[in-house]
Amino acid sequence: MTVVGAPGSADLVIVANRLPVDRVEEPDGSAGWRRSPGGLVSALEPVMRENDGIWIGWPGGTEQDLQPFQDDGLDLVPMTMTAEEISDFYEGFSNATLWPLYHDVVAKPEFHRKWWDAYVSVNRRFAERAAEVAAEHSTVWVHDYQLQLVPAMLRELRPDLRIGFYLHIPFPPNELFSQLPWRRQLLEGLLGADLVGFQLSGAAQNFIRLVRRRVGHKTHRDLVYLPDGRMVRAAAFPISIDATAYEDLARSPEVTERAKEIREAVGNPRRIFLGVDRLDYTKGIYARLRAFGELIAEGSLDVEDAVFVQVATPSREQVEQYRILRDDIERLVGRINGDLGKIGQPVIHYLHSSYPREEMAAFFRAADVMVVTPLRDGMNLVAKEYVACRFEDDGALVLSEFAGAAEELRQAWLVNPYDINGMKAALREAYDADGRDLARRMRAMRKTVTQHDVSAWARSFLHELSSVRPSHGKTVRPAKRS
Ligand code: G6P
Repeated sequence: MTVVGAPGSADLVIVANRLPVDRVEEPDGSAGWRRSPGGLVSALEPVMRENDGIWIGWPGGTEQDLQPFQDDGLDLVPMTMTAEEISDFYEGFSNATLWPLYHDVVAKPEFHRKWWDAYVSVNRRFAERAAEVAAEHSTVWVHDYQLQLVPAMLRELRPDLRIGFYLHIPFPPNELFSQLPWRRQLLEGLLGADLVGFQLSGAAQNFIRLVRRRVGHKTHRDLVYLPDGRMVRAAAFPISIDATAYEDLARSPEVTERAKEIREAVGNPRRIFLGVDRLDYTKGIYARLRAFGELIAEGSLDVEDAVFVQVATPSREQVEQYRILRDDIERLVGRINGDLGKIGQPVIHYLHSSYPREEMAAFFRAADVMVVTPLRDGMNLVAKEYVACRFEDDGALVLSEFAGAAEELRQAWLVNPYDINGMKAALREAYDADGRDLARRMRAMRKTVTQHDVSAWARSFLHELSSVRPSHGKTVRPAKRS
């Protein structure tokens, strides 16, 4: 048996800021790991098994003496982070510079040279670790905005590798990206990859245009021609979810029962509206709750007939903008409930908590109108999860035009999340929609989500990556179908 993380052992290396497991305390007090609920790991698990795959990432926290380990057959290499790196690399450059800059500057990005230095050094450590464990001519797939320098750093160390990069969030146009003092370094970092994947083709085009303008390389359509003869391809691969797993969960007797309980707990109103988001300023939670509050205040909806359930998952709580947002939202919820609620009948049921997948599936089944109104979002998987759970072809989706998912889920009620009156009208229409209209829309959206699931996404990215440099040695073997 090979040792996990042994040098040169892996034919497929996934590099992401986070490991796909969370640290948990076992009943006997010892530390253990629990698989995190994200779809990415379920998509990659089969290909990882087939290709001696390994996943490099940070488990959260500041623990320093972490060794590579196996969890449920997956080989995991934990990366450590000091308290200062968490503050400068993770909370700072990743989440207070890049995150707002890439999301339309909906919050003001901060530029600090010290944060940039931390970003460079953490990226280098990830690249070095990947270079160590990757077998000769193997494939490395780097994920997301926290690690955009890794591709070039890795290529420098290991020119034999096939390198893919995927950005899970939007990629901004020149007008915004160019604010970044280190714009050229970031573009050059990404150009270390053979294939750079984005959620939408508009983002891939932004990247190509920026490379031409800021780095000066020749480009043609989706290709960049580098002076050393290498080519880099930039293309869209819209990510998705494990639709079958969600549908199976939603159909289970436990979830069916739990959905009934949830409806009863909020007073069995005619319609339940639902929002489910990380508590993030890009998600448009504030404006959406205002819109709903106004509908109740004006008497256009009655609290006996309609309630709003907002699940807000705690996120990045050390970052100032997130703290401000939490206070703003909680003040608004308090005001709406105080002004418009009745005893035992709040207008908004606000839950600041994260829940396991089963509970989320029950919320999705309980809700008549799913409200997903981000100001900007790379894709938004919650919208797709809702659709996957609605196997009875009912339920309405109100969806922001500025979520990547809006390019696929055209039959939703599409809204501009900055237009409160427009949102109010859409919420009201979704409330009133008849069964035939709902079924027609949901059937079409379900077809999209089931046909383009997350394993199709992973397969198409890896297939494309294999074909970028056909002369290259190994290619990733597709996962065996179960
Ligand atoms: C987004 C990002 C991911 C990130 C996740 C949770 O989906 O694209 O890279 O892991 O948010 O955020 P966190 O900061 O807790 O990792």
